[in-house]
Amino acid sequence: MTEIPEHLLKRSRERRSALGQGDGEAAGAAPAASTPATTTPAAPAAATPSGPPTRAAAPTPAGPPPPKPDSFVVSRYKDRKKVPFWAMGALGLLPIWMFMYVRSVTASAQEATGPLGMGAEVYSNCASCHGGNGGGGVGYQFSEGEVLKTFPHIEDQLRYVLYGTGAYNVAGVEIYGNPDREGGPHLAGARGAMPGFAGSLTDYEILAVVCHERYALGGADGAGDYAEEFETWCSPESEIFVELEGGAMLSTIHEAHDGVLTIGDGPAAGSAAD
Ligand code: HEC
Repeated sequence: MTEIPEHLLKRSRERRSALGQGDGEAAGAAPAASTPATTTPAAPAAATPSGPPTRAAAPTPAGPPPPKPDSFVVSRYKDRKKVPFWAMGALGLLPIWMFMYVRSVTASAQEATGPLGMGAEVYSNCASCHGGNGGGGVGYQFSEGEVLKTFPHIEDQLRYVLYGTGAYNVAGVEIYGNPDREGGPHLAGARGAMPGFAGSLTDYEILAVVCHERYALGGADGAGDYAEEFETWCSPESEIFVELEGGAMLSTIHEAHDGVLTIGDGPAAGSAAD
């Protein structure tokens, strides 16, 4: 054992008494235990008085003003998920897809507005007297082939709807449809007064509603017996319908179409089936 020099023991005693510790501990352990005890509390104590004033004072006047925080919207914008580059191609095709989609929708809508599509709407002018399904009322029945019996040829029906009962009576034309109709021909005025629609509907509307009466209500088969008539007058590809829409007249439409009977600009006797 080496002897502890007196001046060291004295220092140790002074420290202990300064910290309020008793003298009962072993002299050898005292320096080891007291050394950390003195330094540990001293460190924060030294930092506390000097630290805060300098830290508090320094940044406030000297530092540049902190940048304004982004508004909620801007910060959300900056944080947004960016479109991955591989999706750009798909996004670029979007306008083309939109175009094709709109085209497909309007194209089918246009098909529905061919003579038959339009005729279903125009028929609202007729339903009150002929029934919503053509079953008849004040005016004749169209359904179950009745209208086809009266008019084997569409031209005679078009003429009758254009000019109406009054004009036929004035012109002295009795038989407006098939003179050989089973049970006897229909005579102008026999059932009542059918208004002429030449003034209130356009020629293409009259064709459209007559197509509706024959094919949608009357049961004409556009793929069978009436295939040729359907093709010429009532199909979505009907050239005559397009020409009427462009300003051609039913009264003279036969001039540009072989095999079409003359409708003319006034009442005329109806024709028998071929
Ligand atoms: C105000 C009632 C009334 C309205 C509306 C009316 N009709 Fe008539 N329709 C009649 C009457 C009545 C007759 C029979 C006329 C006669 O005896 O001369 C008739 C006859 C007909 C005939 C002849 C049928 C056959 O077998 O002899 C056709 C075709 C016809 N109408 C089409 C139409 C069309 C198309 C419309 C609409 C655009 C229409 N009618 C609107 C009353 C009407």
